[in-house]
Amino acid sequence: MGLSVKILNDYKAVSQFAADFIFNVIREKPTALIALATGNSPQLTYASLVNKVIHGKPDVSQITFIGLDEWVGIPSSDSGSCHHFLFHHLFEPLRISQKRIHLFDALSDDLQRECIDMDNLISEKNGIDLMVVGIGMNGHIGFNEPGVDWNLHSHVVNLDTITKTVGQKYFDKVTNLTQGITLGMQHILNARYVLLLANGLAKSEIIKQTLEGEVTNAVPATILRLHTHAMAVLDVDAASKLTAKKM
Ligand code: F6R
Repeated sequence: MGLSVKILNDYKAVSQFAADFIFNVIREKPTALIALATGNSPQLTYASLVNKVIHGKPDVSQITFIGLDEWVGIPSSDSGSCHHFLFHHLFEPLRISQKRIHLFDALSDDLQRECIDMDNLISEKNGIDLMVVGIGMNGHIGFNEPGVDWNLHSHVVNLDTITKTVGQKYFDKVTNLTQGITLGMQHILNARYVLLLANGLAKSEIIKQTLEGEVTNAVPATILRLHTHAMAVLDVDAASKLTAKKM
């Protein structure tokens, strides 16, 4: 029970560890359902995974991939969209079949339907085997923002101010970010494994709160401490404010 912690030297080591972990899940369960975050934290993990899959040749044809979240109103053609990120960094290099990929359609005029369809898919697959997630500067996971209801599954959310500001880093030009669509904390709690990736000094304070502060929906990532098989994979910088440092 709880959130185990792995501290590694640098971003590269974090990424290699995470890629190995994902690779092993794929090998052990070739029909696994894997949920993926986007963003800077997992980018090198996905590059390492592509490399490992190309060389190790596990059967990825039966793996189902789902997206953790998406910016509402942003088209998939926008290079800042989660959709674009996952295709560019993972699905295209691995030639994953379209029918094995399920992402929220953030342009849908029925976002509730998107949520229901995603929740149904996850139920049909008997739950998520592995979630690869990052952590926001405000402690969000996916777009489960501070104050989130922990009982939610997929849902649409008004984005936190910090998310709207920090999120600009993914876009070529200033972009109006208002809402997100995301898997919920119930998906995270019920996933078989969760890998939380964080690197860099900028994440050190929120990592400290996540691992050593009170478990509270004010810092959504703290819910991982109630998980049975969650692991925070950190570089030394992200771990630098922790009182108890475990390598
Ligand atoms: C993105 C997502 C977000 C990010 C988080 C950290 O799909 O779910 O919760 O994981 O904002 O982003 P980076 O890794 O860019 O610092």
